[in-house]
Amino acid sequence: MNDRIASAALATSTAQVGVARPHESAHLHVAGEAAYIDDLPELAGTLHCALGLSPVAHGRLESLSLDALRALPGVVDILSAADIPGVNDWGSIIHDDPILAHAELSYLGQPVFAVIATTRDAARRVAARAREAMRIEPLPAMIHHREAHAKGRYVLPPMHLSRGEARAAIEAAPHRLKGSFEVGGQEQFYLEGQISVAIPKEDGGMLVHCSTQHPTEMQHLVAHALGVHANQVQVECRRMGGGFGGKESQSAPFACIAAVAARRLNRPVKLRLDRDDDFLITGRRHCFRYEYEVGYDEAGRVLGAEITMVSRAGHSADLSGPVMTRALCHFDNAYWLPDVAMHGYCAKTNTQSNTAFRGFGGPQGAIAIENIVDSIARALGKDALDVRRLNFYGQGQSTPYGQAVEDNVIHELVAELEASSDYRARRAAVAAFNAASPVLKRGLALTPVKFGISFNVKHFNQAGALVHVYSDGSILVNHGGTEMGQGLNTKVAQVVAHELGVPFEHVRVTATDTQKVANTSATAASTGSDLNGKAAQDAARQIRARLAACAAALHGGTPAEVRFGAGQVTVNGLTLPFEELVAKAYQERVQLWSDGFYATPGLSWNRETLQGRPFYYFAYGAAASEVIVDTLTGEWRLLRADVLHDVGQSLNPAIDIGQVEGAFIQGMGWLTMEELVWHPKTGLLTTHAPSTYKIPTANDCPAELRVRLFENANAEDSIHRSKAVGEPPLLLPFSVFYAIRDAVSALGGHRVDPPLDAPATGESILRAIAAVKAAP
Ligand code: MTE
Ligand code: HPA
Ligand code: MOS
Repeated sequence: MNDRIASAALATSTAQVGVARPHESAHLHVAGEAAYIDDLPELAGTLHCALGLSPVAHGRLESLSLDALRALPGVVDILSAADIPGVNDWGSIIHDDPILAHAELSYLGQPVFAVIATTRDAARRVAARAREAMRIEPLPAMIHHREAHAKGRYVLPPMHLSRGEARAAIEAAPHRLKGSFEVGGQEQFYLEGQISVAIPKEDGGMLVHCSTQHPTEMQHLVAHALGVHANQVQVECRRMGGGFGGKESQSAPFACIAAVAARRLNRPVKLRLDRDDDFLITGRRHCFRYEYEVGYDEAGRVLGAEITMVSRAGHSADLSGPVMTRALCHFDNAYWLPDVAMHGYCAKTNTQSNTAFRGFGGPQGAIAIENIVDSIARALGKDALDVRRLNFYGQGQSTPYGQAVEDNVIHELVAELEASSDYRARRAAVAAFNAASPVLKRGLALTPVKFGISFNVKHFNQAGALVHVYSDGSILVNHGGTEMGQGLNTKVAQVVAHELGVPFEHVRVTATDTQKVANTSATAASTGSDLNGKAAQDAARQIRARLAACAAALHGGTPAEVRFGAGQVTVNGLTLPFEELVAKAYQERVQLWSDGFYATPGLSWNRETLQGRPFYYFAYGAAASEVIVDTLTGEWRLLRADVLHDVGQSLNPAIDIGQVEGAFIQGMGWLTMEELVWHPKTGLLTTHAPSTYKIPTANDCPAELRVRLFENANAEDSIHRSKAVGEPPLLLPFSVFYAIRDAVSALGGHRVDPPLDAPATGESILRAIAAVKAAP
């Protein structure tokens, strides 16, 4: 049934989509009653696991002597690599990630053995003595990606994406700019750390409660580790206390270790990481280093660009390949780059294996061109917004990877924000303030976002759902997506309530469970509601069609005329409660449950040439931020941020605005305060706790954070014409970073390009200030 006819069959006044409503678990979140995995009642006999970690960044493990540790109080068993019955690997794409290290130790923090004890405390005390059990021959460690790149050490072959003749275009251009830039990584800092509880079941079965964005992948990896089939492993996740990409792949080693221990001891085993261990073991957003050269004209139009991006992948591949692909596919951001050559290198270092984090390389790709455009504007003495706008995609243009930019709304969106944020008047006010203020400097920047929506691995763009209508009229939905606070379950329940014309409260969404919906994709790439919303809609429509047929058979009229809305069904002039029709349909032996399926149409991607249509559509946005910087101390504050963001036709504006606000502050943390420091010799991540790793808090939110949603139905037939919202707004706080750069630049009368890397910590800002002051 096509969308228009389908929605015509619903009374619009009873719409369940497009309305602001609280998160389906909000009442539980605020009361402390939402159950996370550590809150599940422990079964009798539950054992606890803690991990013994590599104390060196690189070394050969010559021997592991666990007997002394085994004798310590509370210890039930200690497992090492040799005790894994199946495959000792959790690498999802490239199989280079041992569950427990053996022979070679490749980063400081790598799990080597698992202590199983009667209490968590006892397990941790013993695991902390890991060094005593290991004899290690140290090997030279490569900590920095710059060094690894210089030596040609990568986890994957280099990637190249180009269009036209970049070199020739740069050389022929009236102006040239050459530079380098760095951005740091970022810890996901989910409030609920990594956790798995494995419960052995009869006849070789295993149930794993796992805090994961990817239950199906956990199912397969646990099956491999145990040496059993997927149908013997069940993975369940009701909700996560945040994932942010950190539980897309990296929940795996913990699920595998808990399951291996549970199988061996035939008892439930819980593995809940301590925060410091979580930092030391798991990876995070990739740090990137860029070397670029561009050619541009008098007006500031980019004519040719060449860029080398080097990411710190860590010791293994994990998701570094698709992350780099997304970085390359977002270097254009909202800009037409006629001739361009991009080169991506995933450097192999003796550090944690970096992974997905909100934006998945997109932010790292796009910030490079923003840095370039910002520098071009300064070199030409123009307002950066004018140079940005001049480079925006126009009609009929396509991305360097060959996808036409058909749904472009960046011109209208930026024009609206420019007016609503009072950009021009505030630019003049900032200049006036700076002229009179030698130490405190203000800065202002307005930056655009274009973000491609879909997994950049085509086959992941599918989803399934299961909808049950019970004979009392209550409804249960299950789908392949996972809830991590983003409101996916709320949106899916709204979609189902809307299709069946019942109040939202009649629909309940349950835990994601590999025994209910099979072969699911990670809840990632912001596609959760696009994919699972459509799959659930498909299931609900099948049930509605059967109910309509039943109603017409019982009461006359045609099925097409049957109306569902406000918990009522109208058939042939008669109105009856939804529950009553359901009860009758059950008596008539109508199937009242259905599965549903969805696969995103129109995608194509060539992994060799990096060409095709990887994205179903683009999401757009822009933000204007104003900061004040103390140029003596490097301290700064965000005074005001205005955001206009495109979520298509919002499924739930309250949740979408929450996503935009959260992503804005999280992205601001990445670019300004969150700093990862590895000891250059030992390779210890010294910032492995909140004492030294600072994420933004409520105090860092500006007094004025004005977030609005842009009026714009998705041009594609997405679920109710909405757009994905999870990741794109993480790029909005580029405006904060470039406002800081603008403020520093004011010190030198905007004649010197401040060499500011991210994160723009106080120290980094002071270095940029010193360079501006020292410039001739
Ligand atoms: N919002 C909250 N509250 N917690 C999270 O962990 N993860 C983000 C984003 N928003 C996250 C979040 C990331 S990385 C992604 S990919 C999307 O949510 C995933 O959910 P969606 O596809 O349903 O938007
Ligand atoms: N985002 C998140 N996860 C992914 C992607 C992506 O684009 N591609 C493959 N895994
Ligand atoms: Mo989000 S980084 O795609 O989990």
